[in-house]
Amino acid sequence: METKSNQDKIALAGSELFQKIVAHAKEYGFVFQSSEIYDGLQAVYDYGPNGVELKNNLRNLWWQAMTRLESNIVGVDASIFMHPTVWKASGHVDGFNDPMIDNKDSKKRYRADQLIEDKINEYQNTGQDTLAQKLLSDFNAAQAADNLSSLRDLILEHKIACPLSKTCNWTEVRQFNLMFSTQIGSVADESSTVYLRPETAQGIFVNFLNVQKTARMKVPFGIAQTGKAFRNEVVARQFIMRMREFEQMEMQFFVRPGTQAEWYEYWKEKRMKWHLALGTPANKLRFHKHEKLAHYADAASDIEFNFPIGFKEVEGIHSRTDFDLKQHEAFTSKKLRYQDPEINQSYIPYVIETSIGLDRLFLLTLSNAYTEAEGSDAEGDAKKRTYLDLHPALAPIKLAIFPLIKKEPLQELAMRIFDDLKLDFKVFYEEQAAIGKRYTRQDLIGTPFCATVDFESLEDQCVTLRYRNSTEQKRVPITALRQIVQDEVSMAAFLRKI
Ligand code: GAP
Repeated sequence: METKSNQDKIALAGSELFQKIVAHAKEYGFVFQSSEIYDGLQAVYDYGPNGVELKNNLRNLWWQAMTRLESNIVGVDASIFMHPTVWKASGHVDGFNDPMIDNKDSKKRYRADQLIEDKINEYQNTGQDTLAQKLLSDFNAAQAADNLSSLRDLILEHKIACPLSKTCNWTEVRQFNLMFSTQIGSVADESSTVYLRPETAQGIFVNFLNVQKTARMKVPFGIAQTGKAFRNEVVARQFIMRMREFEQMEMQFFVRPGTQAEWYEYWKEKRMKWHLALGTPANKLRFHKHEKLAHYADAASDIEFNFPIGFKEVEGIHSRTDFDLKQHEAFTSKKLRYQDPEINQSYIPYVIETSIGLDRLFLLTLSNAYTEAEGSDAEGDAKKRTYLDLHPALAPIKLAIFPLIKKEPLQELAMRIFDDLKLDFKVFYEEQAAIGKRYTRQDLIGTPFCATVDFESLEDQCVTLRYRNSTEQKRVPITALRQIVQDEVSMAAFLRKI
């Protein structure tokens, strides 16, 4: 396949581009606001017909990379509800808080740390590097000391104003717990309170021994899981970047105590390679080392992507020590240990976690793929051409099949090709509208190939195969279609590159 390196991508200002991507996601069936006809529910989103395919493909690629490429990683699918004491043991009941600040004029609530991070980005984007550096180091110091009043001081010192009221009339900074709770059973008392899990990881920790024993795993080994997580984000914004209901793909890798530093580096590198294999340019990815560590970690880094609105976290790689297993041991009085036959010792393993938000990965993928190129559109008009430059393994539809005109016997032959390929990959059949319009529609959702059946096809048993990025068209035998498309769209081809 041709890539967009030979196309001129039109440079757009960050927020303008971001707005275009959000609008594109809705218009072409990727993401809708939840309960839109009721004016929506803030920070909750639904995935449309193309969105669900893309999301499934992303999840599958992660799942295959974890559980097929790695012979020592197995999967689980734990429930969203867990025993409420799990969240006491994990520290989430007492410590899963965000520092919040209210603007007294607009009455709007914000995360104090995010206001400061946005200011640092603003300084960086406007060339004020000294100010950015100073604010960053003061911010890190305030966070390391858990000093809420210093966060407020920084907001005042740097004149960070409420985006709505434009004033700096701020309250004190307060902590706010992010877990959603509900009642289980018919009697509502304190003992029936359960939480919607704020991370999938605890479902892995509490199953550590079940998995280790039943799958006969030997340390080092990993347990992978994908699933919904819920956080009552007070300030939910930037589309699917920060949601109240979202999906995580997490892997806990259990290692011998003392080896966690080398495994941490190993997984950092491995996860970065995965992102690069997906086609994300290296210059748009970076590591961000955590200065303030979570209560369970002895080292942590994020993989950040340069979204049109700046670098944001997509994935975390955390060295979680033996904190979680130790806590669950303490709260249950059940041994969560591994008898290591190689050194003849029993210990609580240390854990390296890789944790990626599927929705953020989705947004990264759309942001990366959205392309406006100079040149004529598929109907020959000299104007910019918009298409999604999705990796073929990710594209919602792999091949669109068109009869050139809506007439037999072209329709019948096109349908025959459709039926022949539909079990191999996602194909789409369309006979409405001019062929140029049909190409354009597929470009907009990132379909890498379109095959057109014309009258000549009846004679030579060939179709015109059109490539999305280059718009190049080639005559290919119908019998060769399956292989040509399969070579590009298969997950195996992707996985081999990692
Ligand atoms: N188990 C560790 C953990 O949950 P985290 O950094 O809080 O770590 C991991 O979350 C990933 O989950 C983040 O890197 C991000 O991609 C995603 N994530 C977290 N909160 C999110 C939210 N409110 N909306 C969408 N994705 C979110």
